[in-house]
Amino acid sequence: MNHSFPELGVNIDHVATLRNSRAGFEPDPLSAAVLVKSAGATQLVCHLREDRRHIRDADLRLLRSWNGLPVNLEMAMTDEMVSIALDVRPALVTLVPERREERTTEGGLVLGRDMCEKISVFLKKCRDNEIRLSLFLAPVSGDMERAMELGVDQVELHTGEYANATDPSLREKELERLFSAASCISGSPVRLAAGHGLDRENLLPVLSIENLREVNIGHSIIARSLFVGLEKAVREILETIRRKAPLLRREEGFL
Ligand code: PXP
Repeated sequence: MNHSFPELGVNIDHVATLRNSRAGFEPDPLSAAVLVKSAGATQLVCHLREDRRHIRDADLRLLRSWNGLPVNLEMAMTDEMVSIALDVRPALVTLVPERREERTTEGGLVLGRDMCEKISVFLKKCRDNEIRLSLFLAPVSGDMERAMELGVDQVELHTGEYANATDPSLREKELERLFSAASCISGSPVRLAAGHGLDRENLLPVLSIENLREVNIGHSIIARSLFVGLEKAVREILETIRRKAPLLRREEGFL
C-alpha cells in the first residue's frame, strides 16, 4: 500500500474556454497557472486540441517558458501535435483520443496495432527529448498490458465512467474496474495517474487505488473557482487528498 500522497495536476483548459468566448485576453491562463502553483498543485495540464477550442499554441508556449510548473500536454497522436510536442518539450505528454464533435475526451486511447506502432516511434523521440510519455486509457486489463509492453512512463486511468455513474452499484462496479486495472500494472515501472470528471466528492474512493501517484482535475476546480477563487478551489482538493489518502483502505467500504 502506498502511503504517500498522489500529486495534483490542474487542467486549466476552461480558463482559456472562458477567455475565448469573448475573443479577448481575460481570464488569462498564465495568471491561472501562477495561482495554481501558489495553491500547491504540482503540475499544469492542458489539452491542445485540433480545433484549438480552449488552450492555443501561444498559451502552451507561454506556460512552458514560464516554467513555474511542469506541463502535462494532452494531445492526439497526430503529426501536427507530435511536431509541436517535440518543439515545446513539455515535461509530460499524455496521448488522448480526440474527436472533433466530442465535448470532452470520451474514453481512453484505442491501442490497435497502428496506434501502438506510432506510440513506439514517438516514445523514442520523447526519450531523446526528455519528455515522459503517458497514455490515457480506459480501465481495461488488455490495455494495461499493452502499455507495459510499450514501456511508456505512465498510464492515466480514465475515471469518466466512474464519475458519471449515478447509480451506487454501477459506481461501485466502475470503481472495481479502476482497482483491477491498477493492479495489472502494480509492480511494473509504469507510474499510475487517474483523471476525468473528478471532484471533491467522488475523488475520495479513487484515492484508495493502489499505487496512485497523480490525479488530474480540471472542470470541477475551474467551476468551483467562480465561487471561492482558484487558489481555494485547488487547496480544497489538496486538503481532500492529504487528509483522506492515507486513511482510506479499499476494505473499509467507503461507498
Ligand atoms: N486527464 C485527462 C487525460 C483529460 O483528458 C482530462 C480532460 O481534459 C482531464 C484529466 C481532466 O478532466 P476534468 O476536466 O473532467 O477534470
